[in-house]
Amino acid sequence: MKTILVTGGSGGLGSELVPRLAAAGFCVRVLSRRPAPRQLAAGVEWAQGDLATGEGLAQAVAGVDQIIHAATLPQPFRKATQAFDVTSTERLLRAAEAAGVRDFLYISIIGIERIPFFYYKQKLAAEKLVQQSSLNWSILRAAQFHSFVALLTSTLARLPILLIPTDFHFQTIETGEVAEEIVRGIMAGQNGRWPDLAGPQMMTWGEMAQSWLAARGQKRRVWWLPIPGKVGQGFRAGYNCAPERPSGQVTWEEWLQGEKVA
Ligand SMILES: NC(=O)c1ccc[n+]([C@@H]2O[C@H](COP(=O)([O-])OP(=O)(O)OC[C@H]3O[C@@H](n4cnc5c(N)ncnc54)[C@H](OP(=O)(O)O)[C@@H]3O)[C@@H](O)[C@H]2O)c1
Repeated sequence: MKTILVTGGSGGLGSELVPRLAAAGFCVRVLSRRPAPRQLAAGVEWAQGDLATGEGLAQAVAGVDQIIHAATLPQPFRKATQAFDVTSTERLLRAAEAAGVRDFLYISIIGIERIPFFYYKQKLAAEKLVQQSSLNWSILRAAQFHSFVALLTSTLARLPILLIPTDFHFQTIETGEVAEEIVRGIMAGQNGRWPDLAGPQMMTWGEMAQSWLAARGQKRRVWWLPIPGKVGQGFRAGYNCAPERPSGQVTWEEWLQGEKVA
C-alpha cells in the first residue's frame, strides 16, 4: 500500500484531502505541529513535526512513497526566499530526497507569476525549488477557495461599512472538489504541472460580498477600496482565475447556502 505524507493535513484543504486519500486505499500520514488527536480514522497516521525547524521531519518522511505539500504560512514581511513557504519546501525536499521518497506534489495558486503579491512571490519561489528537485514532481495550482473569500469577507464585515476592492475578480472553488481532483490525479499517476483548478464562475468581490450578506440576512454598505499598483491590477484583471477552464461544480451561492445550514 502506498504511503502518502500530507503536510498541512490538518488545514482547510488537508482535512478534506486526508479522509479521501484514506478512502481511496492509501496509507495517509499527516504532518502537523500539534500532537496526534485521540482518535485517528482507519488508514491515517500522525507525525508531529515542524517544517520551520525541521524537528520530527526525518521520522515523518521515513517509509513514505509520496508527499503532498500543502502546509503554508504567508509571511508579509519576509523576503520570498526567507519565508516559510520557501524554506519549508526546501527543507522538505531535502528530507524527501534523503529518505528516497519518489513523488512530490506541491499545492500552489493560479496566477502567481502575474500578480506580484508578497505571498504569491513566496509560492512562485517554492514552485521553482520543487521543479529543480530530483524528485518526480507535480504542481497543482488552484484558484481561491470559497472558504477563504468567505473568511476574508467576514473579517472585513466586522466594521459597519464593508470596505473591499469590489472590482477584484475571483473564481472560487469548493475545497472538497480540489481534494477530489488531487486524489484523482494521484491515482492516475499525473506528473508535472497539472491543469489549473478553478470554480464554476468568475465573480467580482463586490458581487460575492452582496450574496454573502444576503445569505446571512445582513445589510451593510459595500464600498470600493481602491488597490493601486500591479497587485490591484492583477486581481482586477482576474489573473488569479481560469475562465477558460472552469472545473469545480459548486457555485459560490450554493456553497453559501450549505455553510448557512452547517
Ligand atoms: N486557501 C486558499 O484559498 C488556497 C487557494 C489555492 C491554493 N491554496 C494552497 O493550498 C494549500 C493549503 O492551503 P489551506 O488554505 O488549506 O491552508 P491552511 O488551512 O492555512 O493550513 C495551513 C497548514 O499548514 C500547516 N503548517 C503551518 N506551519 C507549519 C509548520 N511550521 N510545520 C508544519 N506544518 C505547518 C498547519 O498545520 P498545523 O497548524 O497543524 O501545524 C496547517 O495544517 C497551501 O499551499 C495554499 O497556498 C490555498
